[in-house]
Amino acid sequence: MVSASGQNNRIVSGMRPTGRLHLGNYHGALKNWVKLQHEYDCFFFVADWHALTTHYEDTGDVASRAWDMIIDWLAAGVNPGSATLFIQSRVPEHAELHLLLSMITPLSWLERVPTYKDQQEKLKERDLSTYGFLGYPLLQSADILMYKPGLVPVGEDQVAHVEITREIARRFNHSFGREPEFESRAETALRKTGKKNARLFREMRKRWQEQGDEESLEVARAMLSSQQNLTKGDRERLFGYLEGGGREILVEPEALLTETPKMPGLDGQKMSKSYGNTIGLREPLESVEQKIRTMPTDPARVRRSDPGTPEKCPLWEFHKIYSDKDTQEWAHKGCTTAGIGCLECKGPVIEAVSNELRPIQSRAQEYEEDPDAVRSIIQEGCETARSRARETLDEVRQIMGLQYR
Ligand code: TYM
Repeated sequence: MVSASGQNNRIVSGMRPTGRLHLGNYHGALKNWVKLQHEYDCFFFVADWHALTTHYEDTGDVASRAWDMIIDWLAAGVNPGSATLFIQSRVPEHAELHLLLSMITPLSWLERVPTYKDQQEKLKERDLSTYGFLGYPLLQSADILMYKPGLVPVGEDQVAHVEITREIARRFNHSFGREPEFESRAETALRKTGKKNARLFREMRKRWQEQGDEESLEVARAMLSSQQNLTKGDRERLFGYLEGGGREILVEPEALLTETPKMPGLDGQKMSKSYGNTIGLREPLESVEQKIRTMPTDPARVRRSDPGTPEKCPLWEFHKIYSDKDTQEWAHKGCTTAGIGCLECKGPVIEAVSNELRPIQSRAQEYEEDPDAVRSIIQEGCETARSRARETLDEVRQIMGLQYR
């Protein structure tokens, strides 16, 4: 897919520093970060303001949790030479973009985001009736739109937030991308691509707008992306002209999921700190073993001699993630025929999880012993992120009429 402005190769994602990372964060998002960092221009950040929206009464640990989380990322294989790592609150431009976007965001859009009601119902002990919590998805939209990424690698629970981000981008472009004489400016820009390309563009635009032919849209987008001699403004105009809107200043991103977009926890529900069903990336391996040994299995399998139903067993979900085909077959058959006991069935999972965590934990220890190195990675990342963020904000301020020169 080629997105607007030819910036299809950019990726943005963040995590809240609400405690040590767990296998859900790892399999749901972090693994993708590590995989994609060499192919894409990646921006990964600590969403510390987002942590405050749900935990504002207890902010004392935010900074130390942030450093710990960065160590988790590095230990899992995120490479600061390939990706830009930074802290949200150290790039205050995110707050300004959030504020500016809030001017055009209908309250109802925020109220209907599924996590808003869900979390309020699930986390009854927390006060989530704050302005900050309602604005959570919009702050996330600002985080994303700031860098104009094509993709946002996250777990399934974040997909609705990426969806609202797309809607906000569309609304923003619609409201502010409608400059005077848009069409004639777009036509002037088109001529700069040369006769042949301009003809191709017109044909593809027609096919897209009249027949909704996605392939034509992609062809025209790819052509625009390959043009070296277009200014940023002209490129945005042409992307908007192609789709039938105004200038495309903010780019609509898409969520990118891993094979495990919703990793189950020890009890079969989604793995989450708030459910107390996690295995931490840096949890001592004895504790990991103990947790898996004592995790519940198919509740109908009371005695060793009772055959079980893997599909009703939280452990089977772990086998699906951690075991190869042969082991899965062994577990499935052993369970349904009562050929093996649950504890036996847990053996290969304990081994596989431990094997995955061991190298992560030893790398984490190296970073823990060198906090200055971690701080300088973040210092550098914050500077890079800020300079990108300033570019977007300059453009946004200008288009919104807030340029005072
Ligand atoms: P957060 O901190 O809750 O989670 C971080 C990432 O881990 C994923 N995740 C899971 N994936 C699969 N299975 C699970 N059990 C599981 N638990 C967590 C999450 O989907 C997420 O990808 N709102 C975001 C942080 C954020 C952000 C952003 C993300 C702020 N701004 C901009 C992307 C882009 C959050 O709270 O993630």
